[in-house]
Amino acid sequence: MCGIVGFCSNKEDGVDASTILLDCLSKLEYRGYDSAGIAVLNDGDLLIRKAKGRLSNLINLVEKQPVEGFVGIGHTRWATHGEPSDINSHPHTDVSNDIAVVHNGIIENHVKLRAWLEKHNVKFRSETDTECIAHLIDFHYNGDLLLAVTEALKRLEGSYAIAVVCKSEPNSIVVARKDCPLIIGRSEKYNLLASDVTPLLEYTREVQYIDDNQIAKITPTSVDIYDVEGSKIDVEITHVDWDMQSAQKNGFEHFMLKEIFEQPYAIEQTFKARVYAGKLDLGDITEAVKKAKRVVIVGCGTAYHAGVIARYAIEHYARIPVEVDVASEFRYRDPIIFEDDLCLVISQSGETADTLQAMRIFKKKGAKIIAITNVVGSTVSRESDYVMYTQAGPEIAVASTKAFTTQLMCVYLLTCALIKDETKAKELMAELETLSTKSQLIIDRQKEIQRFAARQFNKPKVFYFGRQSDFAISLESALKLKEINYTHSEAFAAGELKHGPIALLDEDTLVVATCCNKTLYDKMDSNIKEVKARGAKVLAITYENNKEFDTVADTVFHIPETDAYLSPILSVIVTQLYAYYCSVNRGNDPDHPRNLAKSVTVE
Ligand code: M6R
Repeated sequence: MCGIVGFCSNKEDGVDASTILLDCLSKLEYRGYDSAGIAVLNDGDLLIRKAKGRLSNLINLVEKQPVEGFVGIGHTRWATHGEPSDINSHPHTDVSNDIAVVHNGIIENHVKLRAWLEKHNVKFRSETDTECIAHLIDFHYNGDLLLAVTEALKRLEGSYAIAVVCKSEPNSIVVARKDCPLIIGRSEKYNLLASDVTPLLEYTREVQYIDDNQIAKITPTSVDIYDVEGSKIDVEITHVDWDMQSAQKNGFEHFMLKEIFEQPYAIEQTFKARVYAGKLDLGDITEAVKKAKRVVIVGCGTAYHAGVIARYAIEHYARIPVEVDVASEFRYRDPIIFEDDLCLVISQSGETADTLQAMRIFKKKGAKIIAITNVVGSTVSRESDYVMYTQAGPEIAVASTKAFTTQLMCVYLLTCALIKDETKAKELMAELETLSTKSQLIIDRQKEIQRFAARQFNKPKVFYFGRQSDFAISLESALKLKEINYTHSEAFAAGELKHGPIALLDEDTLVVATCCNKTLYDKMDSNIKEVKARGAKVLAITYENNKEFDTVADTVFHIPETDAYLSPILSVIVTQLYAYYCSVNRGNDPDHPRNLAKSVTVE
């Protein structure tokens, strides 16, 4: 989704703003975008370059038409209002091109604002909602950009993170946020801003997380942050531990493959962050967990799937009722939440708009919230009562892999804490400890999956089915293939086959049957036979010493044995690799799938 960046330095230091802005934008590419642009202040001038398509188009343009200057803002646009085009790309300016704005979010009252501005003789150039902001700031500008932005924001409805520069104030950038992420990077000689921490790491590790309804004025040597009333507020400077290496490809062809390969380490780190000498230590979360009468879980996409798997595990082991919903449904369905519910919010980025709104409903109802997130300082981490961080490191590929398996490790650790019987909890923890090594064994055999994908990447229909946790992981497996291979893939509970999906089966169909629940082998055996009888090809994923499916399925991939409720953390690695290699075989770019954004910060 759209990304914003900014850089503010002194002329004497001679650091070219456009170089830094383009570099920062390249680190936001993973979020998904369809055009990009920058605006640089230069000796009383405001120079703008924008280009539709990949960032390389903008880089080429800037090479041909350089923009020298020491202060500037930049943007990658993911089109919402108006098609991807040079004109609709950000930055947008006021009528006289004195003020430039980049924006992430959606201005919901833009139609009304546009009509009102047009009555005041404003001629719009683009179809975007953002252009209103530039004109509104101009309308309020009277020699003080901070004040003009503050006034303009009062008229906006919707979500935004904005950065604004103005010709008459060549040494500053004004930024503001509501419901979209915004981070300021602090350094001695310059200051920066970005939609997430990754672009800042090259330049600084000291950051300030801007909160909703805060406005800041950034100069090369100062950052002043205000609330909407104009009162100055102190915002703590936080040190970021992530290193640059983990945000680079390190010889892998794609981030996605690198991140799949990092899973054994990430799973181990997430386990070790909470288990010392065989003892589970969830810190202050332990008390909240003890009181839980019911667990309610929300998330979107892959994070929601982690929630579905959590439901099976928690209900089975801890015998506590669990409700799980996609955040975008939950927030509009008038949900029943009790104060003694334990609410679990799962989000890799910690910035997903629907998830944030669902979390705020929990808060209003007075329930305690545990966030499972990968991003320190994200909105979800700051607004929840407790946080369990996944120790995945930066996840750059749009399709989530290591963030998902570490989310699973977190929910399994929570499950251990919810179990009343200590012996049972210890047994489960002992099994959790083996999962990193077991996941490595699957990755070591990735060539087998690569070969399978080379034969099967062009199937027009791929269905995933299973029962219980195997059904839950089928949802995630189907999503992976959709996202990066653009294949029509669906997941369904194997028992539902006869209730409809069977009508879709034919010789062109591949069915991936996940069979990691021993008590249900016989049922899956029948389902596979039903599928085969309709001409579909079957890949079965089951445990290494189970030969039961060898004669029924066309191909069997064996994974190390574990508990049925934990098996998704292993079986998913097979389907991640399958999706990855299908995508590469098709000539797609798995790191930048079409139409998708890494961080979905608008509804
Ligand atoms: O950052 P979040 O975990 O809140 O993101 C939720 C979904 O947008 C995300 O999981 C999405 O489904 C991924 N592209 C999955 O690969």
